[in-house]
Amino acid sequence: MRGLQVRVLLGAPNFHSMFIVFEGIDGTGKSTQVGLLAETLRARGREVITSKEPTDGPHGTRLRQSAETGRLSSQEELDLFHRDRKEHVETLIKPALARGAVVILDRYFFSTMAYQGIRGFDPAEIRRINEEFAPLPDLVFILELDLDTALSRIGVRDGQANEFEQRDALQKCHDVFASLDDDFIHRIDADQTPEEVHEAIVKLIPE
Ligand code: TMP
Repeated sequence: MRGLQVRVLLGAPNFHSMFIVFEGIDGTGKSTQVGLLAETLRARGREVITSKEPTDGPHGTRLRQSAETGRLSSQEELDLFHRDRKEHVETLIKPALARGAVVILDRYFFSTMAYQGIRGFDPAEIRRINEEFAPLPDLVFILELDLDTALSRIGVRDGQANEFEQRDALQKCHDVFASLDDDFIHRIDADQTPEEVHEAIVKLIPE
């Protein structure tokens, strides 16, 4: 009995796992904030795994390539995002959380709700499908920026051929992110220096 207790104690991780996700439209500085938060939490002695979606795995790579080589049908695209995420959850996210690490992601299924939502799928249905295989995060930071600033940060200029199309798409994605109201969602003003944004985020991370 005593031996069993000792083994259980030794086997337990020193820290509770933490699953943190950054979301927001393009140009809001998510990847910078993933890096800054990882540094801060590593300095606290945590094991931190950072990753992004789409991933660098075979499905994610196909999705990224399709942005240049011609867009897939909306159904094919949705299926690939789901296959990519299933692999991500099984091979990286769940094992890291199980050993008590912090996992920080640049995009997760809230992006599928937004970006495939605007291609005609119901965001609520996308969420239902994802929740069958993808664990809910502990914290989601939605970086918020007005459309003009986001468009200029991603290099889209007023009057350019695709300016209207991009503006319309980002506005619709913004609306899906704005509709999320779970307790774990936190909205962060991204129209500040990266350090100020980081400071606002760190205040929301439990010690
Ligand atoms: P990023 O690497 O700049 O974040 O670009 C990834 C692109 O993929 C971005 O335009 C959003 C898009 N995306 C989706 O359409 N659906 C998804 O589920 C995810 C994770 C990303």
